[in-house]
Amino acid sequence: MSRILISAGPTRERLDPVRFLSNRSSGKMGYALAFQAAQSGHQVTLISGPVSLPTPENVQVINVESAKEMFDAIRQNAQQMDVIIMAAAVADYRPKIIENQKIKKSDGTMTLELERTDDILMWLGKHKLDGQILVGFAAETQNLAANARKKLIAKNVDYIIANDVSKPDRGFGSDNNAVTIFSKDSDPIEISVCSKEEVAKKILELVIQ
Ligand code: CTP
Repeated sequence: MSRILISAGPTRERLDPVRFLSNRSSGKMGYALAFQAAQSGHQVTLISGPVSLPTPENVQVINVESAKEMFDAIRQNAQQMDVIIMAAAVADYRPKIIENQKIKKSDGTMTLELERTDDILMWLGKHKLDGQILVGFAAETQNLAANARKKLIAKNVDYIIANDVSKPDRGFGSDNNAVTIFSKDSDPIEISVCSKEEVAKKILELVIQ
C-alpha cells in the first residue's frame, strides 16, 4: 500500500468579488486517478480545485481554490507521501491586485496586470525525498515530445504524462484521453484514446510497481 497525493482540476485566481481567471480543466483525469488508486487499496489524498465531480469513495479530499491555496495544501502533505501526481491545471499567473469591490467598467480598453504563481511541481522536484515518485502532466498544443522532455528535466520528476490538448476527442473536459508517458530512463509509452479510468489504471500500473 502506498500513500498517494493527487492534485486535480483547475485553480481560480480572483480578480474581484465576482470574477476570476481559470481554465478548462474538468478534474476528471485527477479524479479517475484518485478513484483507481483507492480501488487498488492505496491511501489517497486528493487536493482538488473547483470541479463538479462526486468525491471518490475512500479518498480524503482537500478542496482549494487558488494556486496559492493548492501550493499550501500540497506543501503540508508532501513529506508523508510515497507518490505525488500533479494532474491539476494550476494557473501560471494571477491578478497582481485582487480588488475588494467589483471592478466598474469605464470607456476604452482595460489592462490587467498578472504576476507569476509558484510552480508547485518545480518545488516538489526540488524537495523530492529519497524514493519518492513524482509525476507531472504536460498539456501541450504543439511540440509535445520536446516540451514534455524539457519539463521532465527542468522539474526533476520521474514521469511526465503528456497530452495534446488541441484535439477535441481527448484531454480537457472530455471523458477520454490519450497520453504519452515520458520518463528519464526508458522509451516513451503511448496510451491511445480510451476512457480516463483506463488511462488512470495504466498510469498507476506504471508508476507504482
Ligand atoms: N504545475 C504546477 N504549478 C504551476 C503550473 C503547473 O505544479 N504553477 C504543474 C501541473 O500540475 C503539471 C505540470 O506542472 O503537472 C505541467 O504544467 P503545464 O501547464 O503543462 O506546463 P508549465 O510548467 O506551466 O509550462 P508551460 O506554461 O511552459 O507549458
